[in-house]
Amino acid sequence: MQATARAHPNIALVKYWGKRDTRLNLPAVGSISITLDTLHTTTEVKFDAELTGDSVLLNDKVNVAEAERVIACVDLLREIAGVQTCVEVRSSNNFPTGAGLASSASGFAALVTAVDAALNLKLSKAKLSELARRGSGSAARSIFGGFVEMRLGVESDGSDCVAGPLLDASDWPLAVTVGVVSHAAKDVGSTEGMELTRETSPCYPAWVAEAETDLGIARDAVQEKNFEKLADISEHSCLKMHALAMSAQPGLMYWYGPTVEGIHRVRQLRRAGHAVFFTIDAGPQIKVVSLPDEVDTVTDALNDIGGIRDILRTGLGSGASCD
Ligand code: PMV
Repeated sequence: MQATARAHPNIALVKYWGKRDTRLNLPAVGSISITLDTLHTTTEVKFDAELTGDSVLLNDKVNVAEAERVIACVDLLREIAGVQTCVEVRSSNNFPTGAGLASSASGFAALVTAVDAALNLKLSKAKLSELARRGSGSAARSIFGGFVEMRLGVESDGSDCVAGPLLDASDWPLAVTVGVVSHAAKDVGSTEGMELTRETSPCYPAWVAEAETDLGIARDAVQEKNFEKLADISEHSCLKMHALAMSAQPGLMYWYGPTVEGIHRVRQLRRAGHAVFFTIDAGPQIKVVSLPDEVDTVTDALNDIGGIRDILRTGLGSGASCD
């Protein structure tokens, strides 16, 4: 009744922003992502009849709000298993938590993978993806490695709103260099930000209407391994998502100065012929995707920007798995 699992964060290239159902956590748009390798969450779960209550430790600390989300997700698997046994969850990240580095993605993917093993459920990857989605939309994608697509689905119960693999990491081994601008957790979390955007942004209907077109272009770019095409659609999706968030009332602004400086530097490199592009999630970190032989050039460019606190280098990695 105990297991340990590891999962990696993923970065969306075609972004998800907005929900069509908050209870089931169903996204309003599909998304395409890459799963990373060196950054990871390790989650240990232990079900024990001797325990008198559930407990959750995240990075060795108690966090009541996060613990509630974790236990709500564990409950979905306890229900499938038909057990009520209490659980001890210990989860830790080897990278900053809650600052736009997708810690909730790796966190919930590792959680459902560990609980599935501990309860000996042997659920399919698609089912694990659906369950991870209930914890955090982007977590559905971290069940898989390499290039991943999160499908919108048509069922009202969300059973077909799951992620699936597009291309293995080894088939197109891109590099990701993250310029960490701040280690602080963001002011407005993604769920709150998405709901505010849906309710108040005049741009929201256009965002939803264009999503399938963007996904089609990115899907083709991945299948063709066409870097330029993937760069163009990824930067477009990123800027469009942030423009959308900024157009909410009050406007959401996730960028700091070095984030904007990073965008300009990456554009300069692209214009000079380097195979690089940027993407940014709900936080100030600038993420640069490149061919592997561009990593030193990217690192130098990021190092040159005042205000970049840390640089993390990673490649593309595998899906969630048990130790
Ligand atoms: O899965 P959530 O609720 O953390 O939302 C993720 C939102 C973005 O990272 C900004 C975009 C995405 O598709 O991952």
